[in-house]
Amino acid sequence: MSVIIDGKELAKKIRGNLKIECKELKSKGIKSKLAVIMVGKDPASKVYVRNKSRACEDVGIEYEEHLLDDKTTQKQLIDLIKQLNEDKTVNGILLQSPIPSNLDISEAFRTIIPEKDVDGFNPVNVGKLVLNQDTFVSCTPYGIMKMFEEYNIDLTGKNVVILGRSNIVGKPLIHCCLNRNATVTTCHSKTQNIEQITSKADVLISAIGKAHFVTEDIVKEGAVIIDVGINRLDNGEITGDVDFENVKEKASYITPVPGGVGPMTIAMLMNNVIKATKRQNGMID
Ligand code: GUN
Repeated sequence: MSVIIDGKELAKKIRGNLKIECKELKSKGIKSKLAVIMVGKDPASKVYVRNKSRACEDVGIEYEEHLLDDKTTQKQLIDLIKQLNEDKTVNGILLQSPIPSNLDISEAFRTIIPEKDVDGFNPVNVGKLVLNQDTFVSCTPYGIMKMFEEYNIDLTGKNVVILGRSNIVGKPLIHCCLNRNATVTTCHSKTQNIEQITSKADVLISAIGKAHFVTEDIVKEGAVIIDVGINRLDNGEITGDVDFENVKEKASYITPVPGGVGPMTIAMLMNNVIKATKRQNGMID
């Protein structure tokens, strides 16, 4: 039997602490604001953006939304980011991905100044993570590290296997785990004999977006299982990458979907916005 890692509860605790910090900032006359840009009408993004706006409201962070239609040009997008970079009332900027494929998201991410890059996607912040320097760590990997801390899961010397190599989750996770002294292996669509690798994982983190890909026969007895997947089944049900019911019998710790990694991502975004605000006001380095 495994311990179910309760991301929802931990996220609530983190947001509760941030609420207090936000109040303290306000008492010093300092407001905190997140600006979110969404281009096009991706239905999943709409849900994510709504959840982010609700979280801001809960914590006490001001929220400003820029909804651009799918005919937006690269220049319009870059000009908006530059305007938000200059805007002294905006502390954090988030460009929701995906954006229409005719636009260059890499240029957009590197245009967000590192000081306001609360998603940690600017190459300067990515580089700092690689060098194990203080930075804005992208929110999903950061949320997973917080879960490990809360549940006293020490990665030192552990075999961590990551499924997926996206810029948003898989790649930053490699460095988060390496910075905690893990031995890290990344698997992706071209990896051969994945099961042989996953079955040796002390910690298995799946971020590939394939429902029930991780079955009990490919995990090690007593492994820690982290499920980043959010997959919608034909019947409308949301499920992760892990066959939760069967894998939980073999795991030592496991995250559910929903209620695992998802709420932590948003809590860490709120954390990064408050950190950006404090930095911009000279309260921390
Ligand atoms: N799309 C899916 N996840 C994320 C995220 O964490 N940040 C942004 N900006 N876009 C996303």
